[in-house]
Amino acid sequence: MASPALAHMSSPNSQLLRVAETGRAPLSFFLDGVEVDALTGDTVLTAILTQQRHVRHSEFSGEPRAGFCMIGACQDCWVRCEDGARIRACSTLVRQGMCVVTNRVSCVDGSAR
Ligand code: FES
Repeated sequence: MASPALAHMSSPNSQLLRVAETGRAPLSFFLDGVEVDALTGDTVLTAILTQQRHVRHSEFSGEPRAGFCMIGACQDCWVRCEDGARIRACSTLVRQGMCVVTNRVSCVDGSAR
């Protein structure tokens, strides 16, 4: 299980560094099969980008993308939940135990899809 005590910390390889509102309740979710920390009230985009530098890869160029508008308008932050549902990461709140897939690896068993 991810450490709630470290939920406010950002990964050394993250795009975002959390500098405010660090007192919100911690939660954990699964990012490409790995349990990681976030805080209640984080968007999925914030939760992902405090762990890594990209939210997905472009289906056209294959280049990493990290969102653009952050307000649900540009379509640059689509990710999938484990059940296959597409969500806009910048306008969806992360939930405890949520499984988010940014690549083709299963959230549950780490197998390639
Ligand atoms: S970052 Fe633009 S829609 Fe999410």
